[in-house]
Amino acid sequence: MSLTSLSPAVLADPRIAPLVAATATRPTGSAALAVSLTLRTDLWEPLVRYRGSSRWTALLEPDDVRRFLDPSLHAELAEAQIWLLSWLPEQGTPLHDHGLSAGAFAVARGTLTERVVATGGAGGPRESDTELPAGRLRFFGPHYVHQVTNRHSEPAVSVHVYAPRLTEMNTYRLDGSALLRTGTERAGVDW
Ligand SMILES: [Fe+2]
Repeated sequence: MSLTSLSPAVLADPRIAPLVAATATRPTGSAALAVSLTLRTDLWEPLVRYRGSSRWTALLEPDDVRRFLDPSLHAELAEAQIWLLSWLPEQGTPLHDHGLSAGAFAVARGTLTERVVATGGAGGPRESDTELPAGRLRFFGPHYVHQVTNRHSEPAVSVHVYAPRLTEMNTYRLDGSALLRTGTERAGVDW
């Protein structure tokens, strides 16, 4: 049921009104921002580059993308950090987290494979692989550990949104039943 299908009497109910207000003003979040930007090919297609030596990345400032969006739907834009990435075949990341940042990424072109390592439950780390063709989206909270790779023959492009902005990323390797941290990269030092 959409908000517009509720009668005026229901909308005015003091038990309902606060819920409606919260719903109507809830930010659409990083996920909606990432998807919205992948749809704006006129934004990212002129910018994207492919680089054989290592993955190509570009940081997009909020002012770079604001005119491509409906600002009323993206109140969180000012606080978000947006990256445009390209992936040639076989290019990928190590296992990593995003520090205290939450975020989302959406595939704009090609297909990416995401390997997620979940910890915290009984029985040690659990791995899963998901194929993400263009149009697919993943969103995550802090300390989410994943690895993203282009296992396909076509180049891929993706849009990544982090909030708050990335300050550090830890890299990992899976050693049997242990997830071992192998390094830390910091904003202003490593990227
Ligand atoms: Fe990531």
